[in-house]
Amino acid sequence: KIGEMRFDGKVAIVTGAGGGLGREYAISLADRGASVVVNDLGGTRSGQGKNNAAADKVVQEIISKGGKAVADYNSVEEGEKIIQTAISNFGRIDILVNNAGILRDKSFLKLSVEDWNIVLKVHLQGSFLVTKAAWPYLREQKYGRIIMTSSGAGIYGNFGQANYSAAKLGLLGLSNTLAVEGKKYGIHCNTIIPLAGSRLTEDILPSELFDKLKPEYVSPLVVWLCHESCPETGGVFEAAGSWIGKYQWQRSVGKAYLPANEKLTAESIRDNWNLITDMSDCNTPASVQEQMGLLVEALTGSVTDRRKQTQSQQPNKDN
Ligand code: NAI
Repeated sequence: KIGEMRFDGKVAIVTGAGGGLGREYAISLADRGASVVVNDLGGTRSGQGKNNAAADKVVQEIISKGGKAVADYNSVEEGEKIIQTAISNFGRIDILVNNAGILRDKSFLKLSVEDWNIVLKVHLQGSFLVTKAAWPYLREQKYGRIIMTSSGAGIYGNFGQANYSAAKLGLLGLSNTLAVEGKKYGIHCNTIIPLAGSRLTEDILPSELFDKLKPEYVSPLVVWLCHESCPETGGVFEAAGSWIGKYQWQRSVGKAYLPANEKLTAESIRDNWNLITDMSDCNTPASVQEQMGLLVEALTGSVTDRRKQTQSQQPNKDN
């Protein structure tokens, strides 16, 4: 088909691809010609046990449709081994979708150190280790597409998910730096925030929503971000149901206490709190360079504070 995005000759690894979202990503990439490593440990939702059946089933599904896939049963904690599965079976690696994940939800008071450690180990450490092992290959060939999987819980926080939200926002930090470091080597790294009905969300999402939020609505975004024609890197994109959008950081114009004019004290912060936290005219720096640039403008007094202009343009009510 004209205009169809193809992945012929490309090799993709999808971690946690034995079910849910990962399965959809693996099948979609294979349908479009990629050779896929279907990685899945096959444990329970909370990360216990293991079972080869999960990955095998998805590999069978892909092969029965004429696609190319191989199973890998390692935990993402064994990053090197997963990359070796790609190299020994397909000779290269182009795409890595870090998707494997577990949950150990508990309110913070009840959260044990073990619950904290295992969630950080699978999501953050796991994605780090697989990506770390893939990186030299991507750098050497000057091409790569990496996806990190964050979550609304990481962005906003969510009751009972202190461990999970810490790991998920950690992945965004990792992604941001890999996007910066990968740029000159043609390596793109983006973060997705999916929402879909899966075994991870079956008792969390209301049932009417669960049926509407199909994993197959998330995979087209992953396919696009993993394609060689996609210029995006360092972005954060949400896919939920059939809705796709982008996130960015916002920073209030804030207030600089320039020594010539005003003294910075706890009291002067208190007295200007509404102005400092006013988001109506916020800016959206996209890098530390932009952040520093805006800071320098504010500290040299060269920032145009449009809030003041609008205020002074408003008719004085007393007149
Ligand atoms: P899922 O439970 O259906 O799939 C996760 C897969 O990862 C499972 O097949 C599991 O066996 C595998 N896995 C777990 N630990 C592993 C390990 N150590 N090594 C290799 N594989 C391992 O869950 P779902 O919903 O498909 O989630 C996929 C990703 O999306 C996860 O990272 C999750 O945190 C994230 N996510 C999902 C949301 C949703 O609404 N479903 C919302 C936000 C984020």
